[in-house]
Amino acid sequence: MKQPTQPTPNEHPASAADPTTGTERKVVLLTGATRGIGKSIAEDLSGDHDLILAASSEESAEKLRSTYPAAQVFVANLADVESLESALSGLALDRLDALVPCAGVTGHDPVRETTPEQWQRLFRINLFSIAELVRCLLPALHRAQGIVIAINSGAGHFSGKGFGPYAASKFALRALTDSLREEERGRIRVSSIHPGKVDSDMQREIQALRGNEYNAAQFIRPETIARAVRFALETSEESMTEEITIRPVQQ
Ligand SMILES: NC(=O)c1ccc[n+]([C@@H]2O[C@H](COP(=O)([O-])OP(=O)(O)OC[C@H]3O[C@@H](n4cnc5c(N)ncnc54)[C@H](OP(=O)(O)O)[C@@H]3O)[C@@H](O)[C@H]2O)c1
Repeated sequence: MKQPTQPTPNEHPASAADPTTGTERKVVLLTGATRGIGKSIAEDLSGDHDLILAASSEESAEKLRSTYPAAQVFVANLADVESLESALSGLALDRLDALVPCAGVTGHDPVRETTPEQWQRLFRINLFSIAELVRCLLPALHRAQGIVIAINSGAGHFSGKGFGPYAASKFALRALTDSLREEERGRIRVSSIHPGKVDSDMQREIQALRGNEYNAAQFIRPETIARAVRFALETSEESMTEEITIRPVQQ
């Protein structure tokens, strides 16, 4: 498996003062920023936060570097969970205000047809990588009294035909965030965002496999999920947005 490249040295000191407002800029590490929901989160936060963006490949990293020249971009294939510790150590992060794991993949096969490799891939990207990001970044999150904002799914609460493996990974992610919230209460905050169907490449893939015509207007705009992330991020420090569920009007 391709090893991640080491990140470039951090040229953007943590929590640098924003010259326009004089306030501290929060440092946010986001995965999945190239497309869909993660792209909207990056677009929304890039103006007033210091972004650290994890890209799945060098090609995705290049795309992110040209879109967000002020961001620190590093390559981390989340399926390669064992390589994440070394990729993150290259960031030399002193403090981290927010970890937003957004990258994810879906699955379409019924349980009876899902191979061990498919189960492994889904769980590596949707769950194990997040557990490893949390484990490695917890000291930096502690120093900032930071927040983890996990992009979960409606499938973190409900499952159904053809959704078993995907929903299993999202149910497990909810268990992870529920446990982490209690274990770290008073040190960091933990939020779980549960979108219904969002207009994105993932949703296009799902609708195509079901043989449905794609009508973007039926789905939640990714910017709406980005606003929910900002809400969780900006919740005042005595409070915690534990869970937000957002569903399309048309079911
Ligand atoms: N779309 C929905 O209806 C919906 C609903 C509920 C929850 N969600 C959740 O929201 C999150 C984002 O979904 P989306 O719809 O925005 O998906 P998307 O449009 O398919 O984008 C997926 C993102 O994940 C990244 N990614 C995939 N595999 C990766 C890997 N191995 N290593 C690193 N990054 C990887 C992709 O990077 P590249 O561009 O480099 O491939 C891309 O940035 C997911 O966790 C998903 O489960 C989505």
